[in-house]
Amino acid sequence: MIAVFLANMSLGQETEAPEDPAEIPFALPRSGPFNPADIDIGNETAIADWFRSAHANAAAEAFSHWDDDGEVQAACATCHSGEGFRDFHGLDGSEPGVVDGTIDVGGVVDCGTCHNAGLAQVTEVTFPSGLVHPVRGVEASCLTCHQGRSAGTDVAEAIGDQELDAPNPDLRFINPHYATAAATWLGGYGAAGYHYQGQDYSGRFFHARPVETCNSCHQPHTLEVEFEACTTCHQAEEPAAIRIARQSYDGSGDTDKGISADIQSNADLLLEMIEAYTDDVVGAPVIYDGNRYPYFFADANRDGAIDMADGRPVAYASWTPRSLRAAFNWKLITADPGNYAHNPQYTLELLYDSIADMADPLGVDMEDLNLLR
Ligand code: HEC
Ligand code: HEC
Ligand code: HEC
Ligand code: HEC
Ligand code: HEC
Repeated sequence: MIAVFLANMSLGQETEAPEDPAEIPFALPRSGPFNPADIDIGNETAIADWFRSAHANAAAEAFSHWDDDGEVQAACATCHSGEGFRDFHGLDGSEPGVVDGTIDVGGVVDCGTCHNAGLAQVTEVTFPSGLVHPVRGVEASCLTCHQGRSAGTDVAEAIGDQELDAPNPDLRFINPHYATAAATWLGGYGAAGYHYQGQDYSGRFFHARPVETCNSCHQPHTLEVEFEACTTCHQAEEPAAIRIARQSYDGSGDTDKGISADIQSNADLLLEMIEAYTDDVVGAPVIYDGNRYPYFFADANRDGAIDMADGRPVAYASWTPRSLRAAFNWKLITADPGNYAHNPQYTLELLYDSIADMADPLGVDMEDLNLLR
């Protein structure tokens, strides 16, 4: 059960709060339960749309993860609760740029996260790479929460100038975090990925007017992609089938499928190569399991199953600088299901460079793969 407050909502109307928030039966704003005289149709639709969306799903892991602890740590609160978000940006009168303490559990991305007069004062958002990006209005909210938590620069720092193929038990998988759409979107300029030396990377995906912002494609309450709008410029049955490129990037020669299929195919290839490299070159095979943090596990006895110790899966601890940076790029890309629409070019470049880096020690000839960067 969640209570949603329109306290800071710039669009909403001021109404009396119920005496006891615990008595609110549904996810209603303070102005609810609905009184036709108080609430206009637009608001009602917005609430209904939002209520069915992932942003309102209090039971999701992204909002319930802290329930047993009873509080959300400051480091996590910014993106996992509207209250934490307002605290971080100083919209609650606190110092901006920091969450002052733990935040109550039970929060979601509530109305006051995006409908907040104070957002106008947020003029820039800092990304994990250190990039400070100028923002306007509601964009500040999407870019704060969908930027991920680490960047290629963190990987570069961890591996320093260590020998590329020497396993180092001190290296741990660096997780870019989840739903990293804004990081993909800003491309090489946002520097979310691990950038290989000597390579240039495409910058922000400007796409075409008017598809320039998150909300030009995503309905801000349902969060769904408004596909109708795409078809004014693209001919396709669904977003994933959209393609402009006349070349094939994945070596298949097939240019009838969506660009997303090239990306998927190269991502699959990269994971296979990481697995082959840890086995053949490092001598310590890795197993990927997308359902368990930290996702990459050991299989020292090569039985094809994740090693267990004390009833727990053994995290992979034989990373080399080369496998760590490739695994980071792979996870960053696959953590964004909209990568092909957010920045297809940057995504393809990161994949190509990571594959090329793996190909070298594996003795694979890039020419034979027939990929395009
Ligand atoms: C920069 C914003 C941001 C910060 C800071 C952040 N997260 Fe997240 N996190 C997200 C977003 C966005 C998602 C939603 C991904 C999805 O489920 O689509 C998410 C998802 C999650 C999930 C669900 C993953 C899954 O598999 O469904 C967990 C668990 C999580 N975060 C833990 C944490 C913890 C622990 C911290 C603090 C140490 C933290 N997050 C800090 C943005 C953030
Ligand atoms: C993730 C950000 C976000 C959240 C959360 C959010 N909104 Fe919105 N809302 C927007 C944006 C962006 C627009 C502007 C849409 C436009 O300009 O076309 C908007 C528009 C509106 C409008 C104008 C009519 C319409 O539907 O376009 C109303 C009313 C509204 N929101 C109410 C709410 C209410 C009530 C809640 C909570 C139940 C809520 N919003 C939650 C981002 C959000
Ligand atoms: C306070 C942090 C926060 C803000 C602000 C925010 N999001 Fe989210 N968003 C999340 C989290 C957390 C999830 C995952 C929720 C879940 O797993 O139920 C999510 C999920 C999503 C999803 C996935 C929907 C799905 O069906 O899985 C989309 C799309 C999305 N957000 C777009 C946006 C856009 C566009 C904006 C800006 C208008 C925005 N978000 C603002 C934190 C945020
Ligand atoms: C060109 C249109 C476009 C733009 C601009 C865009 N997106 Fe997306 N987005 C998509 C498509 C297409 C998908 C994949 C379709 C899907 O999964 O619903 C997607 C997927 C997502 C997802 C994952 C949804 C899921 O199912 O897990 C999130 C989160 C997201 N976008 C957030 C954002 C944010 C934040 C921005 C702004 C930085 C943004 N998007 C800009 C088209 C766009
Ligand atoms: C106003 C016209 C226009 C609209 C509307 C539009 N696009 Fe695009 N789209 C383009 C153009 C032009 C390109 C090529 C841009 C470039 O390569 O710089 C493109 C490229 C793409 C690509 C990459 C294709 C490839 O082969 O590289 C994807 C994916 C995409 N758009 C998805 C979408 C989605 C999803 C929507 C709707 C939410 C959308 N577009 C709406 C004009 C548009």
